[in-house]
Amino acid sequence: MGIYTDEQERFFSLRTKNTEYQMQADEYGVLKHLWYGRPVKTNMSYLLEYTDVGFSGNPYDAEDNRRYSLDTMPLEYACGGTGDFRIPAISVLHTDGSNSLDLRYKCHQVKKGKYAIPGLPAVYANEDKAQTLEITLCDCASGVEVILRYGILEELDIITRNVAICNNGNAEVILKKAASLCLDLPYGDWEWVHFHGRHTMERMVQRNPLNYGIQESASTRGTSSHQQNPSFILCSTDCTEKRGECIGACFVYSGSFQTQIECDQLSQVRAVMGIHPSLFEWHLSAGETFETPEVILTYSSNGFSKMSHNFHKVIREHICRGKYQLAQRPVLINNWEATYFDFDTDKILDIAKEAAKLGVDMLVLDDGWFGKRDSDCSGLGDWFVNEEKLSGGLENLVEQIKKLGMKFGIWFEPEMVSEDSMLYRSHPEWAIQIPGRKPTRGRYQLVLDLSRSDVQEYLYNCISNILKSADISYIKWDMNRSICDWYSNNLSAENQGELPHRYMLGLYALLERLTTDYPNVLFEGCSGGGGRFDAGMLYYCPQIWCSDDTDAYERTKIQYGTSFIYPISAVGSHISVTPNHQTGRITPIESRAVTAMAGSFGYELDLGMLSSEEKQAVTEQIKRFKQFEALIHGGTYYRLSNPMNENTALWEYVSESMDEVLVHGMIFRTVPNMKRQRIRLSGLCPDCKYQVTGKDEVYTGMALMQGGILLPESCGDYYPIEIHLKKQEG
Ligand code: GLA
Repeated sequence: MGIYTDEQERFFSLRTKNTEYQMQADEYGVLKHLWYGRPVKTNMSYLLEYTDVGFSGNPYDAEDNRRYSLDTMPLEYACGGTGDFRIPAISVLHTDGSNSLDLRYKCHQVKKGKYAIPGLPAVYANEDKAQTLEITLCDCASGVEVILRYGILEELDIITRNVAICNNGNAEVILKKAASLCLDLPYGDWEWVHFHGRHTMERMVQRNPLNYGIQESASTRGTSSHQQNPSFILCSTDCTEKRGECIGACFVYSGSFQTQIECDQLSQVRAVMGIHPSLFEWHLSAGETFETPEVILTYSSNGFSKMSHNFHKVIREHICRGKYQLAQRPVLINNWEATYFDFDTDKILDIAKEAAKLGVDMLVLDDGWFGKRDSDCSGLGDWFVNEEKLSGGLENLVEQIKKLGMKFGIWFEPEMVSEDSMLYRSHPEWAIQIPGRKPTRGRYQLVLDLSRSDVQEYLYNCISNILKSADISYIKWDMNRSICDWYSNNLSAENQGELPHRYMLGLYALLERLTTDYPNVLFEGCSGGGGRFDAGMLYYCPQIWCSDDTDAYERTKIQYGTSFIYPISAVGSHISVTPNHQTGRITPIESRAVTAMAGSFGYELDLGMLSSEEKQAVTEQIKRFKQFEALIHGGTYYRLSNPMNENTALWEYVSESMDEVLVHGMIFRTVPNMKRQRIRLSGLCPDCKYQVTGKDEVYTGMALMQGGILLPESCGDYYPIEIHLKKQEG
């Protein structure tokens, strides 16, 4: 296993526990992609015999070989302008106005450990857990070199990719596109799965057959977005949760992105993923290098479940960092849906007192505590406590909350500025807007130019001062609009195209500095809920508020889609009131509980308004969550039903040792004379016996997986399900 190279043949094989990825530089130095799938231990180039395909031209050095065309064969990193007419991974503009690249193999290197990418989030691993392969390709005419990096985490079946583009020529080159992933699949009948949505309805699953031509999912919003997630799956037409082949890709980046999938004239598939080229340009002077963000790849021959397990493990254990990465998360109460902007110290303390009685660990003070902020029209940027609302300041409030035995957390939206703020009045040039044009407002606010070091410094100091002013254990880092009107006062006209990526580099630098300097603070990401739910943000924030939709029924769908790629511990999820504020729907408090427990758990309502039975339920829920937290966050997660088209949302957590199992979910509708439903479990030890907690029922793992378990008789709508089983000893 690991990296296998055949120097003579210029053949490379990346071997993980259950997968193999092959490439070979051919006689012309063209790096071909040969294979990504199950381990085959054979050079798969024998499958690549092409005919003379009309209008697919031939490189000059192929001489009279008209069967050799860059337009037909699978390439490892496709470049434009030299006869491959499919989607390029890289585009450049040379000083003479031409834009061709002809990348040929130059050299390679195998290294211990996993490469890091300066300034960008990426998978990390101990030296003994990972290896790196670097293959350098060169465009002789211009001196542009491309280093393709592969990180291999054998045990997890994970391959990561990133690309360094070095200008080793004498003249400047302008990068117009620099994708992180190019994956050519010459054979197979693939379907495409991606995750679309909107605010309060993120990551809906869409699965489509491939059309000839190009299909795309992308964001041009300056964030990874609610509308499309920077991840995709290519799966065999017969792929299900347990069976079939699939390749998943997850972009470790939080800005605009583009995924394009092309089905070419020979029914071959190419997938290209990276920073969105229409919002990207980068000037590379002689001697300079550009690093692309990373893509995480995994292949499963056992359906979507195994693919998700690989992603969950790599993201939880090799992307997320810090004190809370694997630790228990505090059960929190957030005041947003309880008060919105209308609160003062007493109101917050009332909420905290009730929460403390019921067993909640932390109070999070949401939007409205700073500057002039009684609505969303003003105040952003003025990160100073509003003492009219919080008499006695933050220190007083935090001390009182600590006396209740609780921790304290606070909301920030650092990247934003309101026009009605002291910050904007003193620094209008810090906002992203184009001179001579009226800016587009989003939630009345403008975006700060995070590419500027003075803006980063200001934000670091504001946040740092608040953190120093009181004992703060948590920050909710929000971001509530899409970015447009791209223009920086700090960049020359010719460099304006660099702003969207420079913004991301600035944001990551700020987050890196704060998380390093305040290692005990838990950071939770947020962007109007899950508008920036991606592996890039998870490098700094081990949990992200999954959606502003807290309706339990809708949440089962949102969390179902999210679970294909992202681990359960990453999902911020709260119980709120009924009728629900987003949908008006009424669901039982227990259904809200099991849904919110599929994540980093909390509450978002005025607990004082609950009946005594409901309060009792809250106390028990918190105890249960704490009892199950290690299983929920650290166990293996299975989707047992598809809430998009079935009458249930059911999911399962199995402990690593397979001796504990928890099934959660709900039956959406009860109808008269309903047949009892059974659900087949996954991931159990077939010969072991499992007992249902609180009952005498004992079944073998095989019976539970093949025959299933009966769900209780439901009554009413959104009927909650919780089934806990333990392996019997001996
Ligand atoms: C966003 C967040 C909410 C809340 C509000 C506050 O919409 O997703 O949870 O923090 O902002 O303005």
